[in-house]
Amino acid sequence: MSLELCHMALRQTLDLVALTDQTLRGFSRRKFTSDELHREVLGKLLGGNGRRGPAGILIATEGPDCSCCSGRVFHLRQEQLVERSEVISIDPGSSYAMSLVQLEGGSEVVAVNWMDICGSIEEFQNFFHPQVVEAMEDPILNFVACRIRVDSPGVIVAFNYPGRATEYDADVLRSAAVMISSLLTVSSGMRETERAFNYTIEALARACEAAEPDTGNHIVRVNRYAGALAANMGFNLAFVQDIAISAQMHDVGKIRIPVEILLKQGPLTPKEMQLMRQHPAYGAEILGASARLNVAREIALSHHENWDGTGYPKRLRGHRIPISGRIVKVADVYDALRSRRSYKPPMSHDEAMRVLREGDSRIDPAAHFDPAVLAAFFKIDHMFDMIYDSSIPKITLKGKRNGKANNKTSPL
Ligand SMILES: [Fe+2]
Ligand SMILES: [Fe+2]
Repeated sequence: MSLELCHMALRQTLDLVALTDQTLRGFSRRKFTSDELHREVLGKLLGGNGRRGPAGILIATEGPDCSCCSGRVFHLRQEQLVERSEVISIDPGSSYAMSLVQLEGGSEVVAVNWMDICGSIEEFQNFFHPQVVEAMEDPILNFVACRIRVDSPGVIVAFNYPGRATEYDADVLRSAAVMISSLLTVSSGMRETERAFNYTIEALARACEAAEPDTGNHIVRVNRYAGALAANMGFNLAFVQDIAISAQMHDVGKIRIPVEILLKQGPLTPKEMQLMRQHPAYGAEILGASARLNVAREIALSHHENWDGTGYPKRLRGHRIPISGRIVKVADVYDALRSRRSYKPPMSHDEAMRVLREGDSRIDPAAHFDPAVLAAFFKIDHMFDMIYDSSIPKITLKGKRNGKANNKTSPL
């Protein structure tokens, strides 16, 4: 390998390491498909920016019946793989490039130049599928083929490197294939872990709600309201997704509150109220110190704080209350108003809206809610109504609807 090629190999390997590092750092938020990864890794690694790369790439994977591969040809344009063909079905046995790496006993990666095996460039074209030749536009002069094992076995064939296709080109392509395959393995592991994590926190949230049979779907709805509010307020997708799964943990601390207090029909005594007001701190304690539960913990701790500093447990005021807690507070109060509780009947959407606009004996919207969150709520309150309606069997509110809560001391 020449000094110049060694230098290029080093640069491209460093690029690969940097790309892996960057990809892994953003990993918890990303869900890869093999197709996306091929495009991203091959595009960044082989395309543009002074790198030595091929003009076109065929990515093909084996079909379910294992008799043929299908894939597309891409061209490299400014670090992007741009599609240059429809899906092409290729019999690996009849394609020279693919048979070298695909057939039993074939190498993992090979680099071939036309003059190594043919007398003319025209003759060389006969070794490839006509649709591949057509999609390449220029005659094929050389290629590197690399076996890949991702969702299903297949090949990457990179065509027309400047000058000759070399061993070095083969190494770079093989490194990219190994990286894609490792990332996909990690990605599927992460997805499994994420599913297990979501299942566990849902189970925990449901366990706390079990003591209050009327609130069976409350946690699901609060998740959905909170996600809708956060999205409408323009927060980024990561935060919207986080709050939409974490909001259900807001009352996890109630697991430590005696059921007799949770379900008490009459007003709570001052001692009982004091105990009930411990549930935010209990919740934060239960959720522990895991970074993955940061948003859930801050919601559990802050969803009863008031904008004017009269809430609990810390009497935080204004923007010192985490935004996640301010959002969940509006979602939680709306749902509590709509729901039957041991201390009050359910309200219609219009009645709940009136309370959130004008207040009642317990709720003072201007003092209790972040005005920005409340303004966002008023823009999408119809969505709240739809979320509430879609999650419960139709309830007919009997007789005169009573918008007033009948217990001045029961918490929402
Ligand atoms: Fe609560
Ligand atoms: Fe709640």
